[in-house]
Amino acid sequence: MTRIGESIIKIFEGLDFIPGIGAEIGVWQGETSAKLLSKYPELKLYMVDIWGDKSNYSGEKEKQIAKKVVKPFGHRAVILHGSSVRMSQVVENGSLDFVFIDANHSYKSVKEDNEVWYPKVCVGGYIMGHDYLNPKRPGVKRAVDELYGDSVFVCSDGGETRLNDYPEPGVHSDVDCGIWYYRKEYRV
Ligand SMILES: C[S@@+](CC[C@H](N)C(=O)[O-])C[C@H]1O[C@@H](n2cnc3c(N)ncnc32)[C@H](O)[C@@H]1O
Repeated sequence: MTRIGESIIKIFEGLDFIPGIGAEIGVWQGETSAKLLSKYPELKLYMVDIWGDKSNYSGEKEKQIAKKVVKPFGHRAVILHGSSVRMSQVVENGSLDFVFIDANHSYKSVKEDNEVWYPKVCVGGYIMGHDYLNPKRPGVKRAVDELYGDSVFVCSDGGETRLNDYPEPGVHSDVDCGIWYYRKEYRV
């Protein structure tokens, strides 16, 4: 059991933010998607995953589990089976209140995922993702820092540190992978 969904909800509550339409990139078994859909009865959620790609650990079994856990939410759960980059093309620019990125955690992929999904977020919406504090996934922090610099916020993912505990430089906790988020502001 992960607590990612609860942590995203805590972040949204702290921001007084109620999402109407969003996307989770990297769904696995759909636990986080189901948490969000259950919490927000008006939410429509795009669930993007490459399930079954040979380079990946997650396949048909995980897809079936994901489909099952979001079945109670009917058409509000929109499953997009394919790569993050390819699936971003079916979502309209500026149409999402938030995007949560938790797919391939390499530097290159995190950068690419941010590049393709950022335009999909509306002004005032949030782009966010998992594993900013995870020492096993250094590419996440590197890509996110490069893209958003000091404007990025970091919260607990429900591990042992408390919400809004900022990491000390060089100090990481194995039990708290961390969620990063950035608010998309109007830019000319
Ligand atoms: C860490 S799991 C996601 C966990 C999920 N967010 C949760 O909270 O339970 C990563 C998922 O990303 C998917 N994935 C990896 N690379 C991807 C890509 N390029 N495009 C889409 N999905 C990808 C994998 O198939 C896997 O299911």
